Amino acid sequence: MTPRTLQQIIRSMPTTDGGGVRLRRSLGQTQGARVDPFLMLDEFSSENADDYIAGFPDHPHRGFETVTYMLDGHMLHEDHLGNRGDLRSGGAQWMTAGRGVIHSEMPQQESGRMRGFQLWVNLPAREKMKPASYRDIQPEEIPSAPLPGGGQIKVVAGTANVGEQQVAGPIQGLSTEPLFLDVRLPAGGTFIHLVEAGHNVFVYPFEGSIRIGPAEAAHTLEAQDAGVLTPGDTVEISAGEHGAAFLLLAGKPLREPIVQYGPFVMNTREEIEQAFRDYQSGQLV
Ligand code: CO
Repeated sequence: MTPRTLQQIIRSMPTTDGGGVRLRRSLGQTQGARVDPFLMLDEFSSENADDYIAGFPDHPHRGFETVTYMLDGHMLHEDHLGNRGDLRSGGAQWMTAGRGVIHSEMPQQESGRMRGFQLWVNLPAREKMKPASYRDIQPEEIPSAPLPGGGQIKVVAGTANVGEQQVAGPIQGLSTEPLFLDVRLPAGGTFIHLVEAGHNVFVYPFEGSIRIGPAEAAHTLEAQDAGVLTPGDTVEISAGEHGAAFLLLAGKPLREPIVQYGPFVMNTREEIEQAFRDYQSGQLV
């Protein structure tokens, strides 16, 4: 057993996106701040409608997957295929842009708390031009389980081992084999989990600070910072004195060249230029 420890911190930075939604971006704030196959992680969290009401009006994507995970709030998703889906507290949407999607995500509330994440997951070269598809995942489809040492886990993608039990999330069978966990720990609680040795792992505490690694070698990671972990096959994370909530993401690295321009993520510059031409001529989707 090789426990993973903290290798690098990617501090989140305030920014705006879409129509002017205020958010914090950790992964993806620069081209180097990625954890293959994960390209970007945004957290949006506000009780002030001015911070989110502009939403994300129609915009394109090509070459990767977008995952929206809502903690609080209500957004409506609509795309060029005529798909419409409600994103509600505790639900998620896993969208494969593939060759192209044009969609919007707009708040369905004028007050109250809006809080959640958007994660971008890369696609292998051979899948970048496949047809767009998406999955709306209702809150009740995301399994949760109590942790042996206190606390709770929710599994959005992949399968978690909790004691003797296997907890399978609704998203399975993707090429990047993502594990997407939402973990809540009480004060002083500890979470230990196996991860594939060859996969890349990062964690993102959104409430409270966490300690990563076995006690004698643990490093602290503060809320709103992404922590990239060293290679290994186990993860051990402890909460501080106020408890903690964090996302844990693991995935199989693609190890392919990345050329990104805004909402298009391809392997070569020529493919990006093609995406622009396709978008401008109405051929993206
Ligand atoms: Co989008």
